[in-house]
Amino acid sequence: MRTSLVAANWKMHGTQAFARQLLADLDKGLASSNCSAQVLICPPFPYLSLVGEAVGGNLALGAQNLSEHASGAYTGEVSAEMLLDCGARYVIVGHSERRSLYGESSQLVAEKYAAAKQSGLIPILCVGESLEQREAGKTLDVVAEQLAAVTELALANPWQDAVIAYEPVWAIGTGKTATPEQAQDVHRFIREQLGEAGAVTQILYGGSVKANNAVELFAQPDIDGALVGGASLKAEEFVSICCAANE
Ligand code: PGA
Repeated sequence: MRTSLVAANWKMHGTQAFARQLLADLDKGLASSNCSAQVLICPPFPYLSLVGEAVGGNLALGAQNLSEHASGAYTGEVSAEMLLDCGARYVIVGHSERRSLYGESSQLVAEKYAAAKQSGLIPILCVGESLEQREAGKTLDVVAEQLAAVTELALANPWQDAVIAYEPVWAIGTGKTATPEQAQDVHRFIREQLGEAGAVTQILYGGSVKANNAVELFAQPDIDGALVGGASLKAEEFVSICCAANE
């Protein structure tokens, strides 16, 4: 039995005051609802501790990125250990914005995934195709290649204590969501690729998830929750998405 997980990716938005207000509103909204989903907040690095103070119960803390290195002379980087120190339990790796804007290869993403796992953080591995790749019929090949980079590191139990997020690049921040059927097809494929561990690994959908499309996405058998960008910055909308994961 897989529980639902709804993760907020705040990306590089807001100020400290905004983060405090959003947290307070979320806290109120979640407390007055009957949401049973696990809720995860992934704020920008400087606000990790601030959010970390508010977590507990069904609310957990995650980060948006980490270094593949454990420590050393890597100016500007943040290690898995530091994230754990701030109270994080999860970390997003290989978000498409990291892959496309910062040149992170599947190999580097796999190394970050390994660094997270070795430290005890739960990695959320993002995979997904561009519009061009989808139109060329390459969606499953792209996703398989992104997963294979992790498998090739030959980690022990690579998919245990890990989360996968299927995020079609063309649906991120564009207002275009994959149809529930399109998402389900790729989620089923991902689960098959994970082998035995796939039965318990949570697979999230991400890409323009909103309160008005969450219920039908979550109704799909292989969609275990969502990674939410834009809509996670509005407390009421995000709480509605979290509650949709109950149904
Ligand atoms: P979006 O972003 O919900 O704004 O499309 C999702 C993500 O990038 O994780």
